[in-house]
Amino acid sequence: MCGIVAYVGDEKAGPILFDTLKRLEYRGYDSAGVAVRCDDQIEVLKAAGRISDLEKSYLERGSPGDRMGIGHTRWATHGRPSDENAHPHTSGGIAVVHNGIIENYLALRERLTDLGFAFQSETDSEVLAHLINYYYQGDLARAVAKAASEVEGSYAIAVMSADSPSIVCARKDSPLVIGLGEGSCYVASDIPALLPYTRDVVRLKDGDFAVLEGGKVHVQDISGAPRELESERIEWDVNAAERGGYPHFMLKEIHEQPRAIQETITGRISEVEGDVRLDLGMTSWDMQTLQRVSIVACGTSYHAGLVARYFFPRAAGLPVDVEVASEFQYMQLRPGTLLVGISQSGETADTLVSLKKARTCGVRSLAVTNMVGSTITDIVDTSIYTRCGPEIGVAATKTFTSQLAALLLLGIRLGRGRNHLLADQGRKMLAEFSRLPGLVQSVLEKRDQIREIAKTFAHQGSYFFIGRDFLYPIALEGALKMKEIAYIPAEGYAGGELKHGPLALIKDGTPVVALATCGRKIQSNIKEVRARGAEVIALATEGDPDMAKIASMVVELPATRPVFSTVLCTVALQLLAYYTADELGCEIDKPRNLAKSVTVE
Ligand code: M6R
Repeated sequence: MCGIVAYVGDEKAGPILFDTLKRLEYRGYDSAGVAVRCDDQIEVLKAAGRISDLEKSYLERGSPGDRMGIGHTRWATHGRPSDENAHPHTSGGIAVVHNGIIENYLALRERLTDLGFAFQSETDSEVLAHLINYYYQGDLARAVAKAASEVEGSYAIAVMSADSPSIVCARKDSPLVIGLGEGSCYVASDIPALLPYTRDVVRLKDGDFAVLEGGKVHVQDISGAPRELESERIEWDVNAAERGGYPHFMLKEIHEQPRAIQETITGRISEVEGDVRLDLGMTSWDMQTLQRVSIVACGTSYHAGLVARYFFPRAAGLPVDVEVASEFQYMQLRPGTLLVGISQSGETADTLVSLKKARTCGVRSLAVTNMVGSTITDIVDTSIYTRCGPEIGVAATKTFTSQLAALLLLGIRLGRGRNHLLADQGRKMLAEFSRLPGLVQSVLEKRDQIREIAKTFAHQGSYFFIGRDFLYPIALEGALKMKEIAYIPAEGYAGGELKHGPLALIKDGTPVVALATCGRKIQSNIKEVRARGAEVIALATEGDPDMAKIASMVVELPATRPVFSTVLCTVALQLLAYYTADELGCEIDKPRNLAKSVTVE
């Protein structure tokens, strides 16, 4: 996730670009850049690092007369944070900022290289600058439309040319908003960035192109037909707007999950081949001779690893062990192992120390992380990025479900590479995988029901979460979320394990959340706790005929394969923890005693 901005109008462009970019910093902040047009010249300023540092350089340089420009704040997905990889990208007199992922960039890059274009960066986005330059013959909107028609993937772009007084914007599957001012037009990836300047905005629709010139905006739809401007007046207050109108970053990030999972899987699924496109740096032979997978991680990331423990043996015929990273130093690492470290931050000390063992023991290592260029990526042989954008709330939400998505992709790739999973099985699995973002959206729509449940039990003083199979790790994750942000003692248990001790804690009114979308055996565990007075909140598949009879209340989730229901149950449990913490007046985004990144052992 990155942020883009643009400005055309009567005022000096640079200060407006920097101010709007800073308001988008929550979307990414590893590098930034602006391009402004002065005297038919485009001046570009870009660098790795924070926007405020870049702004200082802009102020030192001074760009008299700039009245239009584009800007970008980056969250790396292709190529590490560096000056070269920062946007805008340029080609001839064209400058482009891009948010999204160009799936066919390798093919486009080869073609453009053959045509004589020289690439300066490792990014997918740079192909856009060269492609638009290639088609540009004085009509910028036309060149952008032609280039866009050749691009597969997602994009929100703002483009300018040294010899044109207009800025052209376009979007597909990435957000873009235009702000309408007096004699000025503003563009941003999100509404909050625009609110200090205007409250009248136009949200571009997928396939729309907009031409901004002299304070005027013309929008045309995907067929090229002019579209009437549908502007709306935004009434939110500016503080809430930073969180996109949500009261907390955690709630915002919970709601970003359909998009985040989509970003994780975009360009990586080939339903036709029934396979996943992930470069693991391993040959077929490497995959076929692999003996086992060992996973190390901490906290929520550890729970993601536990889901892989259930999935990889079935998808890839590989045994898996999972260890909390702080205990891994006491374990043996066997030859023929692939050591996988999972860390959203890529900086967790315990996980880094564990992964270093791979080198000393001569085994292959791989990281699943959200942070391009983080320390973990220097330690391992290969990295898989989850690409879900920065997470501000301390509680891991979208980074966890994106880790699950990335690990499922990894399991399928290993399964196909080892010929354990047949093409047809892969196709069916991936067809269901593609539905996942939409299914997550349906779970989010259960928020009112979940809020009521949270209020009912917020003052009970303890919680149990039970699950079996794929859903046992999710029970652990549900309990962790409840502890972490609502400060309620909560236990996660394998359903079958309750009767071996913890059942003694169940009494009248104890809330037990039963994850019941994966197999029927959990029903007997529900009956066991009901018989001892527990109130059971069941997460069950829509239309389950039994659950209403045995649970106290049921939250129905869309039907899907058990492995994908891990994600759906997670989202419901995140909402439960969030609304419980809210009811109790906890400080949700910064829970006491915790930090987003734990860089000490
Ligand atoms: O950055 P990492 O994924 O390595 O972080 C690991 C844990 O510290 C983290 O998942 C923690 O448990 C979360 N804050 C829980 O929500």
